[in-house]
Amino acid sequence: MGHRAAIVGAGHTRFGAVPEGPRALLRAAVDGAFASVDRGAERRAVGEAFLATIGFGGWQIGNAAALLAEEAQAPGVPATRVENACASGGYALRAGVRAVETGARDLVLVAGVEKMTDVTSARRRYWLGVSGDTAWERAAGLTFAGVYGLLASAYAHDHPEAPEAMAAVAVKNHENGALNPNAHFQKRVSRADVRSAPRVADPLGLYDCCPVSDGAAAVLLAPAESAHRYTDTPVYVEALGAGSDALAVQERPRLTEFGATRRAAEEAFRAAPFDRTALSLLEVHDCFTIAELLALEDLGLAGVGGAVELTLSGATARTGRLPVNPDGGLKAKGHPIGATGVSQVYEIFLQLRAAAGPRQVPHAERALAHNVGGAGATASVALFARG
Ligand code: COA
Repeated sequence: MGHRAAIVGAGHTRFGAVPEGPRALLRAAVDGAFASVDRGAERRAVGEAFLATIGFGGWQIGNAAALLAEEAQAPGVPATRVENACASGGYALRAGVRAVETGARDLVLVAGVEKMTDVTSARRRYWLGVSGDTAWERAAGLTFAGVYGLLASAYAHDHPEAPEAMAAVAVKNHENGALNPNAHFQKRVSRADVRSAPRVADPLGLYDCCPVSDGAAAVLLAPAESAHRYTDTPVYVEALGAGSDALAVQERPRLTEFGATRRAAEEAFRAAPFDRTALSLLEVHDCFTIAELLALEDLGLAGVGGAVELTLSGATARTGRLPVNPDGGLKAKGHPIGATGVSQVYEIFLQLRAAAGPRQVPHAERALAHNVGGAGATASVALFARG
């Protein structure tokens, strides 16, 4: 496999409705990543760059990666755009890690960006819609909230306490978001707030949904053997996994599991030097509250239906046995599509270096990032350990 990759720097903008355009957001996230490198890193040391974005609203439909190289002040480096809908960031990380593993690159930049709030709601539906099955589901009027609403109904049919567990996910992730200055929402909500919120796609209400956000995140990767040139506390990428599934949910054997996540998790844990019991925290793809429950089961952390009990027991709280989404998750931190998977890695970089401030998970040593494209058509899993 070659050289192991380490994260040596990470940057993040505020998520939410912000005035900056995508290029300025990218610049800010990359500047933040360089500024975070303890012993400094030269821009000219960047050997390759990967940009995760779906180009929401059509901001730069083709060749957007060249803009990352420009904004990073690393002109001329090979730059590739990675587009796998909401999993673009996880797959861009995968591409960046593979580039380090070849031994040909000393410093690799992985960034994600999306600017979503400056278009009308009709155009928003279009740009989100293009990542679902356009032949049948979108033609029938299904939105992502609609698809996840169907999954939530099917899950609740089998597990009657699911609505309570979904509400608990919303409360928990808003609680964590309240401690994250970069989060789109920094307000706590109660289970009563969640229950009485306006319906978006039954049974999902407003607080079951991630918001529409602007934002960017970036990480710098180096081969493990040279990571100490940059910092005494690198975070190692221990294993990667990825998988795909039928794009249309109707083509899948079961509504309540994501085969893509299962395949990604199996691949990652097969390659990792530790097992699931060693995880200190997880960043999982909670675009809707039901998605966090499904993720816990698909990642192998709970049996079928077991995510309900795991969540209601409080185990997934920031101070629980298995903290999930300590940064607020997509639910409260926000979900600027291409930026999300990279943002998860930013959080893990902070947590494993004990630099997450008030939302620090105690004794954080090993972590998992899980990123999903659309309603489970693509998924990635990455496992990390502190140095
Ligand atoms: N969670 C909590 N509060 C939210 C919210 C969310 N997801 N989305 C919006 N709000 C709040 C806003 O802050 C605003 O509050 P205020 O009145 O106190 O200012 C209020 O709700 C209305 O905001 P608005 O932007 O008008 O909401 P909307 O009805 O246009 O959009 C959703 C709400 C849920 C439909 C929208 O956020 C959405 O489409 N989310 C899903 C995005 C998605 O599908 N992503 C891809 C996932 S695979």
